Amino acid sequence: MKKYKVGVIGATGMVGQRFVTLISQHPWFELTEVAASRRSAGKTYEDAVNGRWMMKVPVPDCAKALVLRSAEDDIAEITANVDFVFSAVDMKKDEIRALEEAYAKAECPVVSNNSAHRWTEDVPMVVPEINPEHLAVIESQRRRLGTRRGFIAVKSNCSLQSYVPALHPLKDEFGLSKALVCTYQAISGAGKTFETFPDIVDNVIPYIGGEEEKSEQEPLKLWGKVEGGRIVTASSPSITAQCFRVACSDGHMAAVFASFDKKPTMEEIKDRWASFSGEPQRLGLPSAPKQFIHYFEEDNRPQTKLDRMMENGMAVSVGRLRPDTQYDYKFVCLSHNTLRGAAGGAVLLAELLCAKGYMD
Ligand SMILES: NC(=O)c1ccc[n+]([C@@H]2O[C@H](COP(=O)([O-])OP(=O)(O)OC[C@H]3O[C@@H](n4cnc5c(N)ncnc54)[C@H](OP(=O)(O)O)[C@@H]3O)[C@@H](O)[C@H]2O)c1
Repeated sequence: MKKYKVGVIGATGMVGQRFVTLISQHPWFELTEVAASRRSAGKTYEDAVNGRWMMKVPVPDCAKALVLRSAEDDIAEITANVDFVFSAVDMKKDEIRALEEAYAKAECPVVSNNSAHRWTEDVPMVVPEINPEHLAVIESQRRRLGTRRGFIAVKSNCSLQSYVPALHPLKDEFGLSKALVCTYQAISGAGKTFETFPDIVDNVIPYIGGEEEKSEQEPLKLWGKVEGGRIVTASSPSITAQCFRVACSDGHMAAVFASFDKKPTMEEIKDRWASFSGEPQRLGLPSAPKQFIHYFEEDNRPQTKLDRMMENGMAVSVGRLRPDTQYDYKFVCLSHNTLRGAAGGAVLLAELLCAKGYMD
């Protein structure tokens, strides 16, 4: 397999650090460029992250001596030395949209962790096991941007990466009609640790700005269709969500209630979860979990601390499936928010794009 030269823009931040760490261990990817704001440009990566390195492993050797460039000013230099970039910059939404388009127009594919382009109609938002066919829209995006090679692809919000995988294999066959979801989200999703967020200790905060809207609406784009060079959002099922911040370091849990037009049995549901696999498993992508959904029969699982690292944090854990008095069924889902839900999900998407020839 050819090695792809990869850059990270926003490399010094929490998500950027996760990208740098994953790329340093990756069989297909080689880190050749790191970029951040003008404040960091000119420093070595090791110096720039000194005192704010948040990963549990040390700064990777391959990154230490790389000199940071300005993500905004050095686009020509960066794009000349990479096959594609991951984007994890924290800027205003319209600035991110413009910056990511500037990279794409410089013929550099962008795989973004940011929400800025999630609702751009010709930008695919992809969970590789769920909607890999949406990559077809890249062709019309390239026409709009006037590029031969450059494009933007994004991943969806971390909150829904636990329950959408569990609902997906049931949706069409049993006619998923509605779902109610309450999420219990870790503090790393806000870029925080217990040291930097002491108010969360012994606490639950019943509000995460914008999260409930994303949790209700983004699944409908994932379940949409490519028509006329854009993604047409699905009109159902209806989803309602409440999202809470809880005192966990990593791992987003969701309590899910679901109803169907053709109510399945519990055995049918467990069977569809056990047999659900997608393009990443078929293609044997390096970051793909072997078993995407793991079902626990124990009453007290999944647990955030015990189960978030299932298959290197890339699998989804599900448990407590049982009948409900108001919906057909209820159950619990868990996924790792900074791995499957953020940088790991973007790395898996980049692997899919490589395997499908979009990065050549
Ligand atoms: N944290 C999460 O778990 C999470 C989850 C989902 C989505 N996100 C999104 O991912 C993005 C990054 O989040 P984060 O938590 O990693 O943020 P962060 O820790 O604050 O890091 C922000 C990064 O953006 C860079 N940056 C800021 N202004 C810039 C500019 N004008 N030009 C170029 N680079 C600039 C910073 O560089 P300097 O070091 O030079 O300032 C840093 O590398 C955000 O959009 C966030 O909403 C985060």
